[in-house]
This record gives sequence, structure tokens and C-alpha cells, in this order.
Amino acid sequence: MKKMLRAAAWTVGAVVVVVILALCGLYIASQRRIDKKWTVAGHELSIPGDSLALLRGRRLAITIGKCVDCHRTDFGGGLFIDAPPVARLYAANLTRGKGGIGGQLSDLDWERAIRHGVKPDGSPLLFMPAQEATHLTDEDAAALIAYLKTLPPVDREIGKNSVGPIGRALFLKGDLQLVPAELIKQDASHPAPVPMGATAEYGAYLAVIGGCKGCHGQTLSGGHMPGSPPDWKSPANLTPEGIGHYREEDFFRALREGKRPGGTPIDTLMPFRYTKDMTDDEIRALWLYLKTVPPKAYGGR
Ligand code: HEC
Ligand code: HEC
Repeated sequence: MKKMLRAAAWTVGAVVVVVILALCGLYIASQRRIDKKWTVAGHELSIPGDSLALLRGRRLAITIGKCVDCHRTDFGGGLFIDAPPVARLYAANLTRGKGGIGGQLSDLDWERAIRHGVKPDGSPLLFMPAQEATHLTDEDAAALIAYLKTLPPVDREIGKNSVGPIGRALFLKGDLQLVPAELIKQDASHPAPVPMGATAEYGAYLAVIGGCKGCHGQTLSGGHMPGSPPDWKSPANLTPEGIGHYREEDFFRALREGKRPGGTPIDTLMPFRYTKDMTDDEIRALWLYLKTVPPKAYGGR
């Protein structure tokens, strides 16, 4: 009996040691990537001041780029993921108010944050979707920065980000894009200007910078978003295999009202609260583009 108890105690002890070692390994391997300092030259942009550019910047920040989804409608930032075993993440206060970074960033710092995912000191921005914004053209990036620099100050101190063991494991497995700087070709040139209008070419651009590909997958075939909680709805298949039965007016209805052709509601994870404000040309551009993507079976990321 005594022998068995002793054996059991040893087994439990060994398991505890293995778990502790595994957690240490997890922590060290992930922290090394979080602490890495990046040397990124960035691109000097000439920041416009005219009202047309500011209007374009505002649309990029709200309707198209959905920065407000994390940075809040007043751009004062705050907690947006509160799941300590995964992470507690705060989006920065982008204004010039107390606790904000707006007054401290040079134009080049803004560009490096938005299109390269790094802070002025070279540390990577956590979970900030720069891997999408990196595809902004120079003109759009400049308009966006111009607009952000005009934001009214909001006084809000922002907490410190923390990443829990599950978040770190998902990060190491490649299911959580915690360090977008790693996903960006840092010295690549940014895309050539894309003329705005109801064209498939402009739709392709919007599908990237508007986050459609971020959720629906690079091939747009939908399926479970890596790292998302199991009870979240999976993005739909937007290739002809998935929405081939849509007519153009169905597509407008989906993006403006959040309803499928039969009238059933689309889950609010699909951000129609923003896409509803896209212009007719923008929605038509996306529609034309989606008709050109190769058909793929659902989830064929
Ligand atoms: C998914 C949520 C999310 C979205 C969407 C998002 N951000 Fe962020 N952003 C963050 C987080 C989180 C941080 C803070 C990261 C950190 O401190 O490591 C951040 C930080 C920043 C910073 C701060 C840079 C610094 O030097 O501290 C800038 C600038 C910024 N975001 C701009 C934008 C713009 C512009 C958009 C829209 C195109 C955008 N963000 C969309 C989450 C988001
Ligand atoms: C934050 C993630 C996210 C983003 C960004 C996003 N979607 Fe979705 N979308 C979803 C999810 C999740 C569903 C499925 C919802 C459901 O099953 O009810 C969906 C469903 C749809 C549908 C309905 C398809 C059907 O089942 O009939 C269309 C159309 C659509 N999205 C188009 C787009 C377009 C175009 C964009 C880019 C402008 C976009 N989505 C951006 C998450 C997203």
C-alpha cells in the first residue's frame, strides 16, 4: 500500500514537473518573438491636408478599414479581448489626448505602425492587423494618417497587454496572429495606385484592405477561422461555389442588411454594420471581383 502511494506521488510529481517545464518552454519561445526588436525603414509619405483626402481617410478608418471595431468609435482605444487564458488586449488610444499616442508619433511612425506593425522603438504591435493594412496604397495610407492626425483628443489611459498560456500555445501553433509584423514582407514595395470605381480590380483591393480575406480566407472559401472560439460562426464561402446563386441585389442586401437571399439573417460576426455604409460602387466592385475568383469547396483555405 505504502509502495503504491509512493509510486502515485512520484507520478503526480513527474506530471507536475513536465507541465511546469512545458509552460516555461511555451513562455520562453513565445516571449522571444514578442520581445524581438524590428528594424523597419518604413516609407516617408507626403501627408495631404485637403478635405477630399481627409474624407477618404475617414472612410478608410471606419467603413472600409474598420479600425473603430477595436480602437472604438472615438478612437480612444481600450480593452477589446478579455479572455485571460488566451489574452487581454487593449487597442491603443490613437488620439492626442492623455494616454493617447497621437501626439507622439511622427508621420513615419504612423506609417510603420499601420503598414508594418511596429512601434517607434521597433517592438511589434500585438494583434494589430497590419498584415491587412500593409496592402494600402501610398495614397490611401497617407489619407488615413491625415485623418487620424485630426482626431479630437480623448483622455483615456490604456492598460497593458498580456498573453495567457492558451494564447501562447495558439500563437506557436500558428493559429493566433499575435505578431502581424512577422506576416509582412517588410521591405516589399506597396501596391501601385488602384483607380477607384466599380471594377473587379478595385474590388480585389477592397477585399484585402476591407478584411474580407482576413476572415473568409485568402481564397475566400470560408471555413473555421484559425484560433477563433469553437462557438463562433464560420465565415461563408464567397467563391462562386458558395454564393454562385446570388444575384447582384442579393449581394447588396447581404452587405447592407445582413440578410441572405432567402431572408435569413447573417450572424453579426459578419461586419455588415460597417459594410452597410460602403458606396454602391464599392459594393459593386466587390461583387464583380468575387465573380472572378476561382470556385473552391467550402473551407478550402
Ligand atoms: C483587431 C483589432 C484592431 C484593429 C481592427 C485595428 N487595430 Fe490598431 N491596434 C490594435 C492593438 C491591439 C494595438 C496595440 C498593440 C500593442 O500595443 O502591442 C493597436 C495599435 C495601433 C497603433 C499604435 C501604434 C503605437 O505606436 O503604439 C496604431 C497607429 C494603430 N493601431 C492604427 C490602426 C489603424 C489605422 C487601424 C485601421 C486600419 C487599426 N489600427 C485597426 C488593434 C487593432
Ligand atoms: C470579422 C470577420 C468577417 C469579415 C471581416 C467579413 N466577413 Fe463576411 N461573413 C463572416 C461570417 C462569420 C459569415 C457567416 C455568418 C453566418 O453564418 O451567419 C459571413 C457571411 C458573409 C456573407 C453571406 C454568405 C451566405 O452565407 O450567404 C457574405 C455575402 C459576406 N460575408 C461577404 C463579406 C464581404 C464582401 C466582406 C468584406 C467587405 C466580408 N464578408 C467581411 C465574417 C466576416
